[in-house]
Amino acid sequence: NEERSFIAVKPDGVQRGLVGEILRRFETRGFKILALQLVHPSKELLSEHYSDLAGKAFFPSLLAYMQSGPVAAFVIQGKGAVKIGRVMLGATNPQDSAPGTIRADFALDIGKNVCHGSDSVEAAEREIGLWFPQGLKSYTRAVD
Ligand code: CMP
Repeated sequence: NEERSFIAVKPDGVQRGLVGEILRRFETRGFKILALQLVHPSKELLSEHYSDLAGKAFFPSLLAYMQSGPVAAFVIQGKGAVKIGRVMLGATNPQDSAPGTIRADFALDIGKNVCHGSDSVEAAEREIGLWFPQGLKSYTRAVD
Protein backbone atom coordinates (compact mmCIF):
# COMPACT_ATOMS: atom_id res chain seq x y z
CA ASN A 1 0.00 0.00 0.00
CA GLU A 2 2.61 2.49 -1.15
CA GLU A 3 0.46 5.63 -1.49
CA ARG A 4 0.63 9.35 -2.03
CA SER A 5 -1.29 11.97 -0.07
CA PHE A 6 -1.73 15.71 -0.41
CA ILE A 7 -0.95 17.70 2.74
CA ALA A 8 -1.30 21.47 3.13
CA VAL A 9 -0.23 23.76 5.95
CA LYS A 10 -2.99 26.39 5.92
CA PRO A 11 -2.28 30.15 6.09
CA ASP A 12 -2.49 30.33 9.89
CA GLY A 13 0.06 27.52 10.16
CA VAL A 14 2.44 29.24 7.75
CA GLN A 15 2.04 32.59 9.52
CA ARG A 16 2.72 30.97 12.90
CA GLY A 17 5.92 29.34 11.64
CA LEU A 18 4.69 25.73 11.81
CA VAL A 19 5.79 24.56 8.35
CA GLY A 20 9.10 23.13 9.54
CA GLU A 21 7.54 21.33 12.51
CA ILE A 22 4.80 19.77 10.38
CA LEU A 23 7.20 18.72 7.61
CA ARG A 24 9.54 17.28 10.23
CA ARG A 25 6.78 15.05 11.61
CA PHE A 26 6.06 13.55 8.19
CA GLU A 27 9.75 13.16 7.35
CA THR A 28 10.71 11.53 10.64
CA ARG A 29 7.72 9.18 10.40
CA GLY A 30 9.34 7.94 7.20
CA PHE A 31 7.41 9.56 4.39
CA LYS A 32 9.16 10.89 1.35
CA ILE A 33 8.39 14.50 0.38
CA LEU A 34 7.73 14.25 -3.38
CA ALA A 35 6.92 17.91 -4.04
CA LEU A 36 6.69 21.10 -2.01
CA GLN A 37 5.61 24.65 -2.82
CA LEU A 38 4.15 27.83 -1.36
CA VAL A 39 0.86 28.69 -3.08
CA HIS A 40 -1.56 31.61 -3.07
CA PRO A 41 -4.62 29.57 -4.09
CA SER A 42 -7.21 31.20 -6.34
CA LYS A 43 -10.92 31.14 -5.54
CA GLU A 44 -11.30 28.75 -8.47
CA LEU A 45 -8.71 26.29 -7.11
CA LEU A 46 -10.28 26.38 -3.64
CA SER A 47 -13.82 25.96 -5.01
CA GLU A 48 -12.61 22.82 -6.81
CA HIS A 49 -10.65 21.57 -3.81
CA TYR A 50 -13.63 22.06 -1.48
CA SER A 51 -16.38 21.33 -4.04
CA ASP A 52 -18.14 18.91 -1.66
CA LEU A 53 -18.54 21.75 0.89
CA ALA A 54 -20.00 24.34 -1.54
CA GLY A 55 -23.41 24.33 0.17
CA LYS A 56 -22.13 24.80 3.73
CA ALA A 57 -22.73 28.03 5.64
CA PHE A 58 -19.02 28.26 6.48
CA PHE A 59 -17.92 27.89 2.83
CA PRO A 60 -17.32 31.65 2.17
CA SER A 61 -15.31 32.07 5.37
CA LEU A 62 -13.37 28.88 4.62
CA LEU A 63 -12.33 30.31 1.24
CA ALA A 64 -11.43 33.70 2.76
CA TYR A 65 -9.33 31.97 5.42
CA MET A 66 -7.54 29.83 2.81
CA GLN A 67 -6.72 33.02 0.86
CA SER A 68 -5.47 34.97 3.90
CA GLY A 69 -1.83 34.11 3.12
CA PRO A 70 0.35 31.51 1.45
CA VAL A 71 -0.39 27.80 1.86
CA ALA A 72 2.51 25.31 2.09
CA ALA A 73 1.36 22.49 -0.20
CA PHE A 74 3.21 19.19 -0.32
CA VAL A 75 2.90 15.57 -1.39
CA ILE A 76 4.00 12.70 0.82
CA GLN A 77 4.64 9.15 -0.34
CA GLY A 78 4.92 5.99 1.69
CA LYS A 79 3.04 3.01 3.11
CA GLY A 80 -0.49 4.01 4.11
CA ALA A 81 0.19 7.70 3.42
CA VAL A 82 -3.50 8.65 3.27
CA LYS A 83 -4.67 6.93 6.44
CA ILE A 84 -1.56 7.63 8.48
CA GLY A 85 -1.55 11.22 7.24
CA ARG A 86 -5.08 11.67 8.60
CA VAL A 87 -4.14 10.07 11.91
CA MET A 88 -1.13 12.37 12.23
CA LEU A 89 -3.27 15.48 11.53
CA GLY A 90 -5.95 14.46 14.04
CA ALA A 91 -9.71 15.00 13.92
CA THR A 92 -10.92 17.93 11.77
CA ASN A 93 -12.16 19.71 14.91
CA PRO A 94 -9.11 20.36 17.11
CA GLN A 95 -11.45 20.13 20.13
CA ASP A 96 -11.74 16.40 19.32
CA SER A 97 -8.17 15.72 18.14
CA ALA A 98 -6.14 13.19 20.10
CA PRO A 99 -3.11 14.52 22.03
CA GLY A 100 0.06 14.23 19.99
CA THR A 101 -1.68 14.94 16.69
CA ILE A 102 -0.80 18.11 14.79
CA ARG A 103 -4.21 19.75 15.28
CA ALA A 104 -4.35 18.89 18.99
CA ASP A 105 -0.84 20.22 19.51
CA PHE A 106 -1.26 23.45 17.50
CA ALA A 107 -4.95 24.40 17.16
CA LEU A 108 -8.17 25.04 19.07
CA ASP A 109 -10.62 26.20 16.40
CA ILE A 110 -12.21 24.11 13.60
CA GLY A 111 -12.17 27.22 11.42
CA LYS A 112 -8.38 27.51 11.84
CA ASN A 113 -7.24 23.92 12.04
CA VAL A 114 -3.68 24.48 10.70
CA CYS A 115 -3.54 21.73 8.09
CA HIS A 116 -5.35 19.65 5.50
CA GLY A 117 -4.83 16.04 4.45
CA SER A 118 -6.56 13.98 1.75
CA ASP A 119 -9.27 11.68 3.13
CA SER A 120 -9.04 8.91 0.51
CA VAL A 121 -6.67 7.63 -2.16
CA GLU A 122 -9.04 8.99 -4.84
CA ALA A 123 -9.18 12.42 -3.15
CA ALA A 124 -5.38 12.43 -2.87
CA GLU A 125 -4.90 11.89 -6.61
CA ARG A 126 -7.54 14.54 -7.39
CA GLU A 127 -5.97 17.08 -4.99
CA ILE A 128 -2.41 16.41 -6.19
CA GLY A 129 -3.63 17.10 -9.74
CA LEU A 130 -5.28 20.36 -8.65
CA TRP A 131 -2.40 21.78 -6.59
CA PHE A 132 0.42 20.47 -8.80
CA PRO A 133 -1.19 20.71 -12.25
CA GLN A 134 2.05 20.43 -14.24
CA GLY A 135 2.85 16.97 -12.86
CA LEU A 136 5.01 16.30 -9.79
CA LYS A 137 8.29 15.93 -11.67
CA SER A 138 8.18 19.49 -12.98
CA TYR A 139 8.11 20.85 -9.42
CA THR A 140 11.62 19.55 -8.80
CA ARG A 141 13.55 21.33 -11.47
CA ALA A 142 17.07 22.41 -12.21
CA VAL A 143 17.75 26.05 -11.33
CA ASP A 144 20.81 27.77 -12.73
P1 CMP B 1 -10.14 20.33 5.97
O1 CMP B 1 -9.47 19.07 6.38
O2 CMP B 1 -9.35 21.28 5.15
O3 CMP B 1 -11.49 19.98 5.20
C1 CMP B 1 -12.61 20.83 5.18
C2 CMP B 1 -12.43 22.04 6.03
O4 CMP B 1 -13.59 22.77 6.31
C3 CMP B 1 -11.92 21.61 7.39
O5 CMP B 1 -10.60 21.13 7.29
C4 CMP B 1 -12.16 22.85 8.21
O6 CMP B 1 -11.10 23.79 8.08
C5 CMP B 1 -13.39 23.42 7.55
N1 CMP B 1 -14.57 23.20 8.37
C6 CMP B 1 -15.22 22.04 8.55
N2 CMP B 1 -16.28 22.23 9.36
C7 CMP B 1 -16.27 23.54 9.70
C8 CMP B 1 -17.11 24.35 10.51
N3 CMP B 1 -18.16 23.84 11.16
N4 CMP B 1 -16.81 25.65 10.62
C9 CMP B 1 -15.74 26.18 9.96
N5 CMP B 1 -14.92 25.45 9.18
C10 CMP B 1 -15.19 24.15 9.06
